Amino acid sequence: MSLDLALSGLGNEPLDEGLIRAHIAPLFSRVLARQEIYLANHSLGRPLDHMVDSVASALDAWYGTMDEAWGHSGWMGALTEYRRCISDLIGLDDPRGVVPKTSAGQGLRAVLNAFPQDRPVRVVATRGEFDSLDFILKAYGDAGRAEVTWVDPRGLDGTVPIYDGADVAAAITPGCDLVVVSQVIFSTGQVLPNLNQVVQAAHQVGAKVLLDTYHSAGVFPISVRELDMDFAVGGCYKYLRGGPGACWLAIHPRHQETMRTLDTGWFAKRDVFSYHRAEPTEPPFAVRAMGGDGWLESTPPILTYYQALPGLRFTLALGVDRIRAYSLQQLSFLRQHFKAAGIPHHAPADPAAWGGYALVPHADTNGLVQRLKAHGVNTDARGGHVRFGPDLLNTSDDLARAVEVLKAQY
Ligand SMILES: Cc1ncc(COP(=O)(O)O)c(C=O)c1O
Repeated sequence: MSLDLALSGLGNEPLDEGLIRAHIAPLFSRVLARQEIYLANHSLGRPLDHMVDSVASALDAWYGTMDEAWGHSGWMGALTEYRRCISDLIGLDDPRGVVPKTSAGQGLRAVLNAFPQDRPVRVVATRGEFDSLDFILKAYGDAGRAEVTWVDPRGLDGTVPIYDGADVAAAITPGCDLVVVSQVIFSTGQVLPNLNQVVQAAHQVGAKVLLDTYHSAGVFPISVRELDMDFAVGGCYKYLRGGPGACWLAIHPRHQETMRTLDTGWFAKRDVFSYHRAEPTEPPFAVRAMGGDGWLESTPPILTYYQALPGLRFTLALGVDRIRAYSLQQLSFLRQHFKAAGIPHHAPADPAAWGGYALVPHADTNGLVQRLKAHGVNTDARGGHVRFGPDLLNTSDDLARAVEVLKAQY
């Protein structure tokens, strides 16, 4: 059965366990055959059964038609569809402004490599950025290619470090080129408050903002256009159920023509298959494609789009607002059960100001995660907290049982 047909029975009603059991769970029969309570959905999302058919169709086209597989109804079509889905998901309203990348870090490097090379790029970033972006900025710093001002958390909410966009805004001074911030802090789930102040302060001094949407895209509705973001990066392997390698850099139309990155290749050329080569008398930019296409790179990893598309279509068909409403109910259920069981946990004053998982502090998070896993509860940990990330496939029985196991192992 096609995904659209399978989901058509859902209508537009809010999600509940009955609807999910009838219309959604059957689409995940392979992953649901696992005998465990999977609560690491914020880390590696659960794939649809359709992913196998989707990837197989790309391979069938290769076996059956060889080079014709590249056609617009084939591999190039999947690339176009991937860009459209991401544009819809993040509210870019410009599919060609979505540049497929194999990692979020690759997106950051493409942006860093679009600034003048004769001086370091002056960057402001928080200490809460994910390891990959943190490491890339530090590597650029070591090589003298970036000067980074790091913004620390301003305090604690219980055991949880708290960042504020106002502090990022205060660190932006004239001469700043680029601000790198996460919309949701990966280690705690905090939605960065006062993001509008960051954008305002950056634009006032002519700096650009790159937003990491890895823990927000697919978690709650976002519009990078409304936020007036210059760039955004993100990827599909968590909430979007698309596996590793399916990432993106989104570029505001105002920068697509005016900035040029060195991270380029022949797919960024105006007429890719004309094999026209720029000669020294003709600058390479003269043959570059217009708009976001000019930011493409070399031969793309086509199978990745087939791997990611079922999860993206599923998310868009359900609607991120419906997914978020259900996720908030599940998180509230979990936190109530933590409380009833006397388990220390982060209890946010406003759960909507936090992302898709709940936090339990522990002195030995790795040991606790291993014990939970040995007892059939799959979670992970960052920065002194175990993260519990339900998705709509987790039943309330699952969640209640997970808390019982946690109580026994805490
Ligand atoms: C906030 C955030 N950004 C980026 C990434 C992944 O970065 P990359 O694609 O460069 O490996 C993650 C992965 O957990 C993340 O949580």
